[in-house]
Amino acid sequence: MSDYAPSTKFADQAVGKAALYDEAAADHEGFWAARAREYVTWSKDFDTTLDWSDAPFAKWFVGGELNVAYNCVDRHVEAGNGDRVAIHFVSANDDDDRAITYAEMQREVAKAANGLASLGVEKGDRVAIYMQMIPETIFTMLACARIGAPHSLVFAGFSADALRARIDDADAKIVVTSDGQFRKGKAMPLKKAVDDAVAGTSAKKVLVVKRTGIDVAWNDDRDVWWDDVVTPASDTHEAVAHDSEHPLFLLYTSGTTGKPKGILHTTGGYLVQCAYSNAVVHDLHPETDVYWCTADIGWVTGHSYIVYGPMANGATQIVFEGTPDSPHKGVFWEIVQKYGVSILYTAPTAIRTFMKWGHDIPEGYDLSSLRVLGSVGEPINPEAWRWYREHIGGGDTPIVDTWWQTETGAIMNSPLPGVTELEPGSSQAPIPGIHAEVLDDDGNKLTDPDAVGYLVLTKPWPAMLRGVWRDPQRYKDTYWSRFGPDLYFAGDGAKYDEKGNIWILGRVDDVMNVSGHRMSTAEIESALVSHDKVAEAAVVGATDPTTGQAIEAFVILRQDAADAADSADEGGELVTELRNHVATQIGPIAKPRSIMIVSELPKTRSGKIMRRLLKDVAENREVGDVTTLADSSVMSLIQDGMKSSG
Ligand code: PRX
Repeated sequence: MSDYAPSTKFADQAVGKAALYDEAAADHEGFWAARAREYVTWSKDFDTTLDWSDAPFAKWFVGGELNVAYNCVDRHVEAGNGDRVAIHFVSANDDDDRAITYAEMQREVAKAANGLASLGVEKGDRVAIYMQMIPETIFTMLACARIGAPHSLVFAGFSADALRARIDDADAKIVVTSDGQFRKGKAMPLKKAVDDAVAGTSAKKVLVVKRTGIDVAWNDDRDVWWDDVVTPASDTHEAVAHDSEHPLFLLYTSGTTGKPKGILHTTGGYLVQCAYSNAVVHDLHPETDVYWCTADIGWVTGHSYIVYGPMANGATQIVFEGTPDSPHKGVFWEIVQKYGVSILYTAPTAIRTFMKWGHDIPEGYDLSSLRVLGSVGEPINPEAWRWYREHIGGGDTPIVDTWWQTETGAIMNSPLPGVTELEPGSSQAPIPGIHAEVLDDDGNKLTDPDAVGYLVLTKPWPAMLRGVWRDPQRYKDTYWSRFGPDLYFAGDGAKYDEKGNIWILGRVDDVMNVSGHRMSTAEIESALVSHDKVAEAAVVGATDPTTGQAIEAFVILRQDAADAADSADEGGELVTELRNHVATQIGPIAKPRSIMIVSELPKTRSGKIMRRLLKDVAENREVGDVTTLADSSVMSLIQDGMKSSG
């Protein structure tokens, strides 16, 4: 038996059994209908599992009605599990660690729903949430789900400009935020960005949680404290059922153009797949496990695997407001030890960072409670996988490498920990009920293990995005046109190995993956070009050993700025200015690692920038084929500049 086959002991107790594959293969819709009734409580049963007649616009569990918040909270209380801890809130920044039971969660969500309703939020209204990892963020999300008001979370590291664009696009009626957030022990402003973002938008109210106590500017007509509106509100709220296809949330993600797209997820199908995948992939046993997904709630992983999946399953989990190095580099392992975490779901970039810090740090803690490890967000290199298994997992803990996207809503490809013989570095195969293939340029399934193609989802799945907010054409063009109207193009390169495992090779479009965060080259280019000294910009993602990819920018200055920079030799200052400008436009996570000022960019005769060549420069490789360049001397100019700037 291979080292990577599941042990009998694990397999015997596993939630996900091999029989699920057979059941799904025999009857796709029947399989999902059964999962829908197994994992979710319906106020009204559905009559049709899938309506794909208007492809690619899907309807799942048609005719069904449910309330997501009821499913994530109330039904656990009704089942006698009100005393179970839903969330251990752990903060690196002060002593306010807090355990919140499902019964308390029910009261907090009811209060938040009543509070939002008192501010005029009704079913169908969009609610923007710009808040960090604190319990109130979860209360607000579930309150929105309860009312049927789709939320749009905006990661609290995004700038005011990015927030404004998202408020505008969604026509959000209200913004929920906090006064500030703790970052490495320091209170940093958060509401300030909302103040800068909301003026002139559809958002007429701002609901503010007091988290840090720092001073905030106040607009009496617009701003209200959570403590004045939510805290005193009634702690009961009736959860009315919503249609299975009622919008649950919007989440903006980067695409190939400068404008982020609002990915739309709806109620029934999303919840079913989140709950099912969390159970079978993470092997969640809610009565005994302590589960911890380290993602930020502002990204899809936090939506699906902190809030909706685990809470629908009645999990006990850790919510951590902090970073892996604060207050010290062993904080993750200290939390695992203290709370007896049994399932840990994190990102390759974090694992590579822990590797860099050295295994003696985790060795200082008792990690024996861990029994399932997960990875998400980018390919995990086999070396990091092995380190994770050895030094965190004690050498025998199954690792589930889960491939999915904001658009897919839930896990798509992953081993099942009690069934699959693991292959380090590969997310292996679609989970039962999901259909994925690697196709070549012409849409034929690859047969040669050395060939490289594209990952394509060949059947609709319950948690699939239902569209791009207010842009049906972009939805069709981006995902459903490359290979045909009912084949979903994921945008990832992929290949099979000899055993038939799928290996994800990274994005094939102009989307970068930096520390598991999706960034579009076009979005950062347009941020750079919006600076008055910049004439043109090109951005590429260069391989980075820790963050996966790093943002490298090449910039042509406007003539007057170039002259001034030359005479004053102020290149260094200008680069800082440009990096800060990107932080203001998008957020600090979008800051290029380096910016090179160049006099030309490599372009084809039709004017298209050849990023491939810039990538060669950024990765210190010999520059590839330049014959299609309009001016082949450009590359030597850029390389010379690179050498002289060190
Ligand atoms: O390129 C793939 C990569 O992340 C992209 C999706 O990014 P996002 O929508 O931000 O969602 C991230 C969290 C689900 C994918 O197109 N990706 C995600 N997980 C993996 C991965 N690449 C390889 N292996 C993974 N496990």
